[in-house]
Amino acid sequence: MASKIALVTGASRGLGKDSALQLAKKGFDIILTYQTKKEAADEVVKEIETLGQKAFALPLDISTTAGFDQFVTEVKDVLDTQFDSAKLDALVNNAGIGINESFETTTEEILDAMTNIHFKGPYFLTQKLLPLLNDGSSIVNTSSGLARFSMPGYSAYGAMKAAIDSLSRYQALEFGARKIRVNSIAPGAIETDFGGGVVRDISDLNKHLASETALGRVGLPDDIGSVVAFLCSEDSKWINGQRVEVSGGFKL
Ligand SMILES: NC(=O)c1ccc[n+]([C@@H]2O[C@H](COP(=O)([O-])OP(=O)(O)OC[C@H]3O[C@@H](n4cnc5c(N)ncnc54)[C@H](OP(=O)(O)O)[C@@H]3O)[C@@H](O)[C@H]2O)c1
Repeated sequence: MASKIALVTGASRGLGKDSALQLAKKGFDIILTYQTKKEAADEVVKEIETLGQKAFALPLDISTTAGFDQFVTEVKDVLDTQFDSAKLDALVNNAGIGINESFETTTEEILDAMTNIHFKGPYFLTQKLLPLLNDGSSIVNTSSGLARFSMPGYSAYGAMKAAIDSLSRYQALEFGARKIRVNSIAPGAIETDFGGGVVRDISDLNKHLASETALGRVGLPDDIGSVVAFLCSEDSKWINGQRVEVSGGFKL
């Protein structure tokens, strides 16, 4: 039987990379995207191939809709020429960046960037990819713990992630007729390059975040990817329109 195919945005590193690898372990072929780090994305492709699945990396800038039509054309071409398929079975909207900017110093430019990357981009990318998703597909949108609890400096970022939680519910409602499930995953603080790698590299911050976590440490990328893969698989076939927080119990 042909493998199912997942498209994961921002999978050259961090949580997207781990999600792509865990999906491959569950038997998915992967189209992954990167923005600038092509070599890192090519390494992820190789790792997936070592796991026995097919993979292909495409460039994507989620911050502007201008390139989306071209991107969708490329996805169709890759599906046809590399995967011998017309459609996708899962979409993981993961690409994103972190910023820490107080409410008082957040400029219109910063708010626009957060809106475009974390909300408008995933919104219209999903709209454009919808015809390419098989009925019964799964969509996972990436939220954040910061949509439930608040920390100084994350008003623009956290509000966009709250918008993603809301969007997931609306999408789940409207896509139900096609049996397409939509959930959002809300990671807590994870050691990646996110926000300049602060969670991983600033020891005092890392210790503080760990002290607020019931399980006593911050998260690692492999705490997340397996949950994304679960949400894309039939194992979660009755989970729909939910926000799944994956934080080890942060600020309970
Ligand atoms: N790490 C955390 O603590 C944490 C917590 C909650 C939620 N999240 C969310 O999880 C997602 C992934 O974060 P991460 O920690 O894995 O970050 P990361 O390690 O910095 O990786 C970010 C990924 O997104 C891509 N990317 C960045 N800007 C992009 C753009 N404008 N267009 C397209 N792709 C872009 C990067 O591509 P290149 O490699 O090519 O630059 C990279 O693949 C984000 O949505 C983030 O908000 C993270």
